[in-house]
This record gives sequence, structure tokens and C-alpha cells, in this order.
Amino acid sequence: VTRTAAIVPAAGRGDRLGPGAPKALRDLGGVPMLVHAVRALATARGVDLVVVAAPADSVSEVQALLSEHGADEPSVGRAAAVVVAGGATRQASVAAALGSLPEDVDVVLVHDAARPLVPVELVDAIAAAVRAGSPAVVPGLPVNDTIKRVGLDQEVEETLDRSVLRAIQTPQGFRREVLAAAHAAATDEATDDAGLVEAIGVAVLVIPGAAEAFKVTRPLDLVLAEAVLARRRAAGVVLL
Ligand code: C5P
Repeated sequence: VTRTAAIVPAAGRGDRLGPGAPKALRDLGGVPMLVHAVRALATARGVDLVVVAAPADSVSEVQALLSEHGADEPSVGRAAAVVVAGGATRQASVAAALGSLPEDVDVVLVHDAARPLVPVELVDAIAAAVRAGSPAVVPGLPVNDTIKRVGLDQEVEETLDRSVLRAIQTPQGFRREVLAAAHAAATDEATDDAGLVEAIGVAVLVIPGAAEAFKVTRPLDLVLAEAVLARRRAAGVVLL
């Protein structure tokens, strides 16, 4: 049997969002972003366990928060969620959660707490693609803006061919041994887990991402997230 765990790095401060609580704990429609993300992962058929990496000084606070929102205990169609101490960087937070996984887990998803509205279908699609044999799978969307590379003087050096570029999201899915080897070999800080896997020469497959899996980074993203949530609630599609 394949057991799948979803790791949620949620130990970041979120400075780009402006002053206030750690980003993962900010409210979206009255519920902390992290709780939205945990519910989406725990509700996916393909996920058996959710492990949240919280700021080291807030582990019990975050565990209590999940409990308060009924997002920790397993139930019918819903996996359990536990909290571990994260690290100083996203990469360290993922590594800490990875090191805490039960031995029988063989597929690992990594999903940013900062992508609270990820559709459950995307979580399942990533998990299914790994189970179907790909060692590493990430969701990606076409790039809408024209992307240029600039020098230190802000002068354009190159305009990239947009048609071959993808904006990569989470959840990213991996065979456990592949992700563990990638983290063990990591020297530099990567902005995502697939980057570490690429660095050890393992193929990473891109499957279609989802617009609603966008990352809440800047204040305007909160406005969009509230609007998406309001639309879902009006349509009656909320994860209870
Ligand atoms: O900063 P960025 O938006 O790339 O963060 C992505 C995710 O990594 C967020 O969910 C954030 O909470 C998490 N993170 C973490 N530990 C850190 C820094 C960021 O878990 N030290």
C-alpha cells in the first residue's frame, strides 16, 4: 500500500504582505490561511496524513488553532494533521517535516500554506501522477507577462520565449526517497522542492496547474483570495 503525506511549510513571516501575524495565520473569510490549506490537503482522497511545519515558538499554538477549527482529527474522508517545528528557511521547514514522517509513507506532497485555495482536484492529480510512476510532479501554468532578464544596471539583456515558460505552483509531489535525497544533497537554498530534485538530476514532470492555487504574497492577493472564497461560499462549495 502507498501511504501519502502532505507537508505544509507554514513557518514564514510573510513580510511582503505587510505588518501583522505570520502569514499562514492571517484570516481569510474568518479562517486562518493555514486552516484552508490543511483542509484542502486532508480532504484529498490521495492524502493520508498532513504535517504542518510551524514557527518553532508556535507549535502548540498552531496545533491548538487546527484543533479549534476541527482540522486536526481524522474523520470520514479526512486525514489527520499534526504540527512540527519548522526552520529558518522554507527549505529547512520542509526538511524538518520530512524527517518527522512515519516510515511507511512513500509519497510526499509539499504545499505552501500561502496557497490556501488550492483545489482538492489539483492535490489529487499531483498525488495520482506520482503514484502512476513519475518520481517528481509539479503543477504549472502558462506565463501571461513577457519575461525579460535584466542586468544589475536594470538594462534588458534578453527577452525569454514565453511559450516554453511555466509558473510553478504547489502542491509538488515526490517519491519519498527522491525528495529525501534531494534535501540531503542540497547546498544552496532553492525556492521550491522541485529545484532541489532537478539539482540531483531527477526528471520533474509539469502537469496543468490551477489558477485558484495562486500564492498569497502581497496585499492585493488577499483581495483576490477573499473574492474567490466569497464566490465559493455563494456556490455552496466550501470545505466544512
Ligand atoms: O516566502 P514564500 O512565500 O516563498 O513562502 C512559501 C511558504 O514557505 C509559506 O507557506 C511560508 O510560510 C513557508 N516558509 C516556512 N519556513 C520559513 C519560510 C517560509 O515554512 N522559514
